[in-house]
Amino acid sequence: MSQGALVFDIGSFSVRAGYAGEDSPEVDFPTSIGAVLDGEDGSTTSKFYVDPNIHEIPQENMEAVTTFRDGMIDNWESFQAILDYTYTNLIKSRPSLHPVLMSEPAWNTKEKRERLTELMFEHYNIPSFVLCKSAVLCTIVNGRTTALILDSGAAYTTATPVIDGHVIQQGVVRTPLAGDFITLQCRELMKELNVDLIPPYMISSKEVVPEGAPANWKKKEELPQITQSWHDRVCNSIIEEFKKSVLQVSSTAYHENVAAKMPAVHYEFPNGYNRKFGVERLKVVETLFNPSKDLPGETVLGVGEVVLKSVDSCDSKISTKLHSNIIVAGGNSLLQGFTDRLTKDLSNKTKNTRLRLIANELAVERRRLNAWRGGSTMASLPAFQQSWISKQEYEEQGKQCVERKCP
Ligand SMILES: Nc1ncnc2c1ncn2[C@@H]1O[C@H](COP(=O)(O)OP(=O)(O)OP(=O)(O)O)[C@@H](O)[C@H]1O
Ligand SMILES: [Mg+2]
Repeated sequence: MSQGALVFDIGSFSVRAGYAGEDSPEVDFPTSIGAVLDGEDGSTTSKFYVDPNIHEIPQENMEAVTTFRDGMIDNWESFQAILDYTYTNLIKSRPSLHPVLMSEPAWNTKEKRERLTELMFEHYNIPSFVLCKSAVLCTIVNGRTTALILDSGAAYTTATPVIDGHVIQQGVVRTPLAGDFITLQCRELMKELNVDLIPPYMISSKEVVPEGAPANWKKKEELPQITQSWHDRVCNSIIEEFKKSVLQVSSTAYHENVAAKMPAVHYEFPNGYNRKFGVERLKVVETLFNPSKDLPGETVLGVGEVVLKSVDSCDSKISTKLHSNIIVAGGNSLLQGFTDRLTKDLSNKTKNTRLRLIANELAVERRRLNAWRGGSTMASLPAFQQSWISKQEYEEQGKQCVERKCP
């Protein structure tokens, strides 16, 4: 007898999981996990550390592992470690009891979809399964069946047209200008400004120092052997906080004079070093909307261009409808000023078209949860019940049934 369905929206940055019908996921934790490798060549994994609290504590020879590449599952061992941990420690229930709805990117490959289906039925023995494109899930949660989804996540910013509940594949347009890129830009900025990123695990004590003065801190005497990948990951989590508190997307194209008038934001790093950030607040994120400024010669599309190219690739009859139903999703879109700039950018480029951005302004953080919440709604719809692949169908037709049942 199966119980409540579970919804998993596992992205390259975070894992969101919980019961269908709920308003928000029960669990939400980083996808980047720790692994201690102990093979002769340093490659055999002995143990994964998924609990974010555990792997914030330095461990000898622990590497940071990434499970996703190109927005798709790439490391199946660590993917399984994430699922095991979620079932056992967070959901605290047996996989065989719950149907599973999982989100996937529009460009997921046949091979990966089939392998995932096989894993869920054979290894986890789940009673039924369904894979849904995250863009379709974002449409549902906003009460629509036709919309243009702009999802700015960690790896990519993607525009996806969804018409009558189906992704228009030729209209999917991506740019690597997204959260990971901004993190890199911030790391570069810290180098330029000679700001040392010292993670809390290295610090035994620190003094209060005046703004701009060198930090006065003491290093812990006994530190385990830390790998570069793990250290980098911890430094990136310092940058995560910095991104949330300091960065701001300029409302119009970046200009030194405008930026100079921006109120500066005071920020303190874990080692006590503190200073104000003024023009840098805008400058770091400008590339998102204006890539030619910092990446000359490269043909990288800016966020606004991604939207326009995607709409343009659709039938002209539908483009007006898409322009007036643009749904903004993804963690990187939480950057302050992101939607305002996008609106301005698009209005400038599409003079006569009625534009409407649906960005859940009232609850900004929800934008990051759009796909999960869509899955939660979808799995509860009576009309959706025929879309599940049952265990029996899987046994009769094999893993290929995912192609037919989850187009
Ligand atoms: N408040 C915020 N301000 C700025 N950036 C943020 C904020 N919250 C999250 N982010 C960034 O959003 C990105 C993660 O977005 P999201 O959770 O949508 O990714 P994901 O779905 O896990 O990954 P993907 O869809 O790329 O596979 C990270 O780069 C993170 O730094
Ligand atoms: Mg995502």
